[in-house]
Amino acid sequence: MSGAALPLLAAVVVSLPASAAAPAPAIGRRGMVVTAHPLASQAAITVLKRGGNAVDAAAAAAFAIGVVEPFSAGIGGGGFALVYERIKGRTRALDFRERAPLGAERNLYLDNRGQVIPDASTTGHRAVAVPGTVAGLAELVRAGGRLRLAEVMAPAIDLASRGFVVTQRFVDASSGRLRDLEADPGAADVFLKGGKPYQVGDLLVQRDLAETLLQIATGGDEVFYRGEIAEAIAADMADSGGLITARDLASFKPVWRDPLSGRYRGYTVVSMPLPSSGGLLLLEILGLLERDRTWQRDYRDARTLHFLIEAERRAYADRAERLGDPAFVKPPTGELLAPPRLDALYRAIDPARRTPSLGLATAAGGRAESAHTSHLIVVDGEGNAVSLTFTVNTPFGAAVVVPGTGILLNNEMDDFSAKPGVPNAYGMVGNDANAIAPAKIPLSSMAPTLVFRDGKLVLAAGSPGGSTIPTTVLQIVLNTLDYDMDVAAAVAAPRLHHQWLPDEVWCEPYALEPETRRALFARGHTLVVREPWGNAMAVRVLPDGRLAGAADPRGEGAAVGY
Ligand code: DON
Repeated sequence: MSGAALPLLAAVVVSLPASAAAPAPAIGRRGMVVTAHPLASQAAITVLKRGGNAVDAAAAAAFAIGVVEPFSAGIGGGGFALVYERIKGRTRALDFRERAPLGAERNLYLDNRGQVIPDASTTGHRAVAVPGTVAGLAELVRAGGRLRLAEVMAPAIDLASRGFVVTQRFVDASSGRLRDLEADPGAADVFLKGGKPYQVGDLLVQRDLAETLLQIATGGDEVFYRGEIAEAIAADMADSGGLITARDLASFKPVWRDPLSGRYRGYTVVSMPLPSSGGLLLLEILGLLERDRTWQRDYRDARTLHFLIEAERRAYADRAERLGDPAFVKPPTGELLAPPRLDALYRAIDPARRTPSLGLATAAGGRAESAHTSHLIVVDGEGNAVSLTFTVNTPFGAAVVVPGTGILLNNEMDDFSAKPGVPNAYGMVGNDANAIAPAKIPLSSMAPTLVFRDGKLVLAAGSPGGSTIPTTVLQIVLNTLDYDMDVAAAVAAPRLHHQWLPDEVWCEPYALEPETRRALFARGHTLVVREPWGNAMAVRVLPDGRLAGAADPRGEGAAVGY
């Protein structure tokens, strides 16, 4: 895992212009696909060429990601999708996020002295929440696709049975989880080669996964939740101290939700509602930025960045205090985004000084996470769009593969607050609102986003990165809409992040020029340079209707025009 703090190179860093590393965007006239892996992008293009629409192609890409980027996302995990149907002029949100098993309880990861048991919520069968990806993708295709599930899944089945060539990201992810992968015979069997990590250039064939995908393609999601696959998952859980039962699987249902939308400088920003905090964070921060009367159209301006940091600090404090599964905690969305409240938050920002985080609320924080989880975007020739983020949470999830199925299971239970104030893998803290309860959905930060102007789609974006997801998406929105960067430069531009706790501004290398750094220090900020994070994908609809796509240069993704 990356995300480690680098020493602050205050005196030696030479700042680069934001666009220095950005290649030109890919251009499409009849469609655009952007995913985290070239083979998944190709799967989506194949499905578009066979007459599929954006929904079919997005589902095809998602199934393919589960094969070629299994450490990030797959059928053992869950996620969220925004679906824009141009003819109807509407956007819907599908929540196929994992749920806690019915046998889970609040103190699941605490020892008898009330302390959090290390690794209990991240590794092994007990860390697994009920997977939602298969139900979600099947529902997307049923509700909005044009092809049959089997047609949509064909490229993924092909990739699993023929194999794909392992890349450096795979090697890094599996080396980082080597001990955990070794400990699970199912995982070692699939993801290690004679007990050692696969090397760059090796062919990884996943025969069991191909068979599982084939069963789903022919029998539908029913097979996964009530049939043979459900039986295999429940049996493995029972054997290994896991909590998921046949009843948990049989009762899983994805939920269509109204997306969260808000205005920003004449645009309508549409993103994910609770149980993801992603949309709320994005809209709260944008709401505060829009109130900044001395705002400069310059992404390097220290005063503007100070304001951005202070806005992020306040929105993330709200996340920790108030947010959780809306089925368990009354959603405070309207209250948090109410204009008088945003006015008051804005007025409380001191332009000359940081507000210490612990003055806003109380808890403790931790570390960052890089780029596991996967975002993908498809825009088709009719102007329909899907922006989808899904995950198994940290690299290789719980590091558990259900024997004989090839299914790698998530560790999404770690997104709950195991104990108030104790940070999770992303350094995120929470309290009662995000405490564990049976069938509850852990709070997410995923933020698949679509932006419209005068009813027309102008931008789609999303990223992995745990707690950094909303600020990564935010910066792509600001870079394209406010700072007029093309979409590739907007995605490549170095990032900044503040998440309330720890009270630090995380900066990618070269994010700040020395003068800007000094000005932020002078306002009381602690700046920490970290390894680059995120693996964002974005599509811009150009004024002439062409589609410009960009995959993050931090990853190995591909934008392919059609
Ligand atoms: O739902 C969430 O917010 C996290 N489980 C997402 C994990 C993630 O982005 C991992 N990438 N670094």
